[in-house]
Amino acid sequence: MLPPLPDPFLARMRDLLGSEYHAFWASLHQPPAQGLRVNTLKLTPQAFLARGPFALQPLPWLPEGFLLTDPTARPGKHPYHAAGCYYLQDPSAMLAAVLLDPQPGQAVLDVSAAPGGKATHLAARLRGQGVLVANEVVRGRARTLVENLERLGATAFLVTQEPVARLAQVWPGRFHRVLVDAPCSGEGMFRKSSSARAQWHPRMVEGNAARQERLLEAAAATVAPGGRLLYATCTFAPEENEAVVAHFLRTHPDFTLVTPPRLPGLDPGRPDWIPAPLARGLPLERCVRIWPHRSPGDGHFFALMQRDGVEPAPWLSSPPPSRLKAQTKHLLQTFWEDTLTIPIPPKGWVQYGDFLHYLPWDTDWWQPLRPWRAGWRVGQVRHGRFIPHHALALGLQAPRARRVLVFGAEDPRVLAYLRGETLHAPGNAGWVLIAVEDFPLGWGKRVGDVVKNHYPRSWRWL
Ligand SMILES: C[S@@+](CC[C@H](N)C(=O)[O-])C[C@H]1O[C@@H](n2cnc3c(N)ncnc32)[C@H](O)[C@@H]1O
Repeated sequence: MLPPLPDPFLARMRDLLGSEYHAFWASLHQPPAQGLRVNTLKLTPQAFLARGPFALQPLPWLPEGFLLTDPTARPGKHPYHAAGCYYLQDPSAMLAAVLLDPQPGQAVLDVSAAPGGKATHLAARLRGQGVLVANEVVRGRARTLVENLERLGATAFLVTQEPVARLAQVWPGRFHRVLVDAPCSGEGMFRKSSSARAQWHPRMVEGNAARQERLLEAAAATVAPGGRLLYATCTFAPEENEAVVAHFLRTHPDFTLVTPPRLPGLDPGRPDWIPAPLARGLPLERCVRIWPHRSPGDGHFFALMQRDGVEPAPWLSSPPPSRLKAQTKHLLQTFWEDTLTIPIPPKGWVQYGDFLHYLPWDTDWWQPLRPWRAGWRVGQVRHGRFIPHHALALGLQAPRARRVLVFGAEDPRVLAYLRGETLHAPGNAGWVLIAVEDFPLGWGKRVGDVVKNHYPRSWRWL
């Protein structure tokens, strides 16, 4: 049971929306829409539809975005979810990557990225070329962010846990695309979020606006000449939306609001809802408002801005020379040749503590930061042995291994594996890749007729 909608919020929205208020109010009492975004790092939307696990309705904004139309479906408990075939995301939130439109090979920064809905989408649009830096200041949330990026098979990313001002110091003018998905009063999520309703207070709106201005200011310094900056919130309050953008544009004359694409359900910004002297002369109607009574998803706000100048060319980086001790290199090579059917990359191998990572770019550009995660974590050397990491399995394009157990989505052995159970499957001894159809899920290790379960404990289904 959700707490009641706050009265001062309703009073403000009644004043702002006039005759539309009743439709808006009614929409907040509807069940929230469930969105599903197909992970194009793993499969095309057409291939997903052909597998037909759920009843879906296409969204008008992007080929990979859908609405789930069966309220009884449990997409979070389907093996395709564990295999990273899709991300469950509010339909409006999917617009961030559509508007920011990163191109393969670009450098992209998401300054407040956890739990990773928009970051995983940006990674998919980059198609593994270039780099995504996903930053999150809250430690526990940064962990979830890494898990989601790994589940969806992203490999060309950094996760950092830094104040945005620090990112600006280290990376001035570095990124082709920057996303500021700002912490906000969350009014757009009132349809589904008890905590957003319970925590809301008029003073929260003021406090957020000041924090959002600081975040935007710092993030702007990381945008390359000709690059794009997307400011996003999931709230309706003009103080956190048009007013923040207006303050920013007044102090950053090198940024201009970009006219958004014409798409159904995208409504213009409302310069008339903020003080006239602040709005004067600024094309704030180029901001985008998504209303829950006029589009399928939750409430959202976007402002896409471009910095003056000529955009730099995409990154032309190549993997660094490998820096592994001879024994570690031997362990990795032996595992790879014994287990996988794809050639081992000759360069790009780096060791962090016990962990081995593959990096598609050199390591010097993020000094002096110490990222939480860099590139593709493939395994760990423990007690003189190589143990493959689950991110290696999930980052493979297909079950390209010498020993595989491939199950259908309905096979009870898939659920047994996801619950952490041992499998009985005679065959050659060694590491076994477990897959649901074409999609790797994780590792097992076969001894005799038994495949010991190596699915991460914290991911196991109850
Ligand atoms: C709207 S959420 C981000 C959602 C995320 N982009 C996604 O699509 O899954 C805002 C994030 O900002 C983070 N945050 C809070 N205070 C912050 C600050 N001062 N600087 C940067 N990020 C902050 C929160 O921890 C939260 O993860």
